[in-house]
Amino acid sequence: MSNKKILIVSILIVGLMMTLSTSFAEQERKMTDTMTVIHSRKSVRNFTGQTVSKDLLNKIVRAGMAAPSAVNRQPWSFIVVTDRKTLDKLNEGLPYAKMLGKAGAAIIVCAIPEKAYEGSKEMAIIDSTLASENILLAVEASGLGAVWTAAYPYEDRMDVARNALGIPGSVIPLNVIPIGQPAGTDKPKNKYKPENIHWERW
Ligand SMILES: Cc1cc2nc3c(=O)[nH]c(=O)nc-3n(C[C@H](O)[C@H](O)[C@H](O)COP(=O)(O)O)c2cc1C
Repeated sequence: MSNKKILIVSILIVGLMMTLSTSFAEQERKMTDTMTVIHSRKSVRNFTGQTVSKDLLNKIVRAGMAAPSAVNRQPWSFIVVTDRKTLDKLNEGLPYAKMLGKAGAAIIVCAIPEKAYEGSKEMAIIDSTLASENILLAVEASGLGAVWTAAYPYEDRMDVARNALGIPGSVIPLNVIPIGQPAGTDKPKNKYKPENIHWERW
């Protein structure tokens, strides 16, 4: 091989190695970011009262839709509320969601048994719970705060959500997730308990 050819091949090899090492570093950075978001997530119940942009809410809902679901049935729907009057109406009827008063928005995750694998209500709830956790993590990653407040399994709370939002009787409002700019008072809890880990068998 001529010296010129050797030089070209060497340059190509070095270029390839640099690209690979950059992509490994990038992968590692993304991994660290994901772990940081997971460990930083906390229930945020204190908001500044600032509004939340629809663009950001759209990204957050899309993260919900990226969740896994049994046989990929995606048995869910998401109601995104930004209207102050509707937020207040939900606040009036839901005793454990008073943080809606200062939230900029709320997402109501709805489970739809008839869309779920084998028409199972349990599957619809499990799948929609995974979508909800994705939403909570996406909120944290966006620099916002949120908290799961329960609608399911309480008939009275589900009725409040159904009436305020026109949700059909066959659809289960799983939760009401107030979202807003965090006031900065809520902190993540350390839940690491080695006794809850069983290696190899119980
Ligand atoms: C199924 C479920 C129902 C919950 N219901 C409420 C609720 O009605 N109101 C509330 O303030 N927080 C509610 N939470 C939030 C929990 O209180 C919170 O996740 C828990 O205390 C752990 O705190 P962390 O989210 O900051 O890690 C609920 C969470 C789950 C998973």
